[in-house]
Amino acid sequence: MYKGNLDQQTVKPITVASLAKMKAQGERIACLTAYDYSFAHAVDAAGNEVILVGDSLGMVMQGRDTTLPVTMDDIIYHTRCVAAGVRRALLMVDMPFMSHATLDDALRNAGRMMKEGGAHMVKLEGGREQCDVVRRLSETGIPVCAHLGLRPQSVHKLGGYRVQGRGADAADAMLHDAEALQDAGADVLLLECVPAELGARITSTVRVPVIGIGAGVDCDGQILVLQDMLGLTPGKTPKFSRNFMQGAGSIQEALAAYVSAVRDGSFPSAEHAF
Ligand code: KIV
Repeated sequence: MYKGNLDQQTVKPITVASLAKMKAQGERIACLTAYDYSFAHAVDAAGNEVILVGDSLGMVMQGRDTTLPVTMDDIIYHTRCVAAGVRRALLMVDMPFMSHATLDDALRNAGRMMKEGGAHMVKLEGGREQCDVVRRLSETGIPVCAHLGLRPQSVHKLGGYRVQGRGADAADAMLHDAEALQDAGADVLLLECVPAELGARITSTVRVPVIGIGAGVDCDGQILVLQDMLGLTPGKTPKFSRNFMQGAGSIQEALAAYVSAVRDGSFPSAEHAF
């Protein structure tokens, strides 16, 4: 059986502190989504520091058009499956649409994700209006990633899946959101579909690690949806993704190629940026 790149005996788990140290040392952080045990095992063994159980499972696991129908029970089910395959990576999990609409909802649902699913960190979409939620979760001992830029749960408000933060005012507003969320206690920020210049500006301004998807090469780390980078997504692949199966002899080789391209900064290149 494939044993992966990791020494099975001496694995040191990735923590919030390890990610902060990687940022401080200028080491790029590799992250991917996973939704089940077998892929979680392979993604972890390839050396990714973070595995995200994204609410993108609505699309890639359930065949829905958006992430909006994903429920807490869906997320907890997939988190349990992934947790069984993770040995080293930090397990980040998306809070579904409306699961953090009030402070009580946020605490109850983030608590379920950790207790029932085995999440190490929760991710929630939103700007400065989410600061109270982030502060409360953080004070309760729950690590938080705040997701800025294109927020797929707001697709109907945004009018589609569009690049965010274009223009000086929108860019300044996103930078202020990022600083406010960091000050409220966010441990990690995730930037989706923003101009590469803004990705670089936010990354160099905040203290916490910034993970990008379609946010340029200068973020502290990169994340992709697993099915996109394995060339499995039906229809058009997003501009910011790359099919790592091209030229790879196996899924494990494609995963290893992704980790090394993130580490050496060859992914993303200009063709994947906005
Ligand atoms: O749900 C998800 O997979 C995500 C990634 C696109 C970052 O949030």
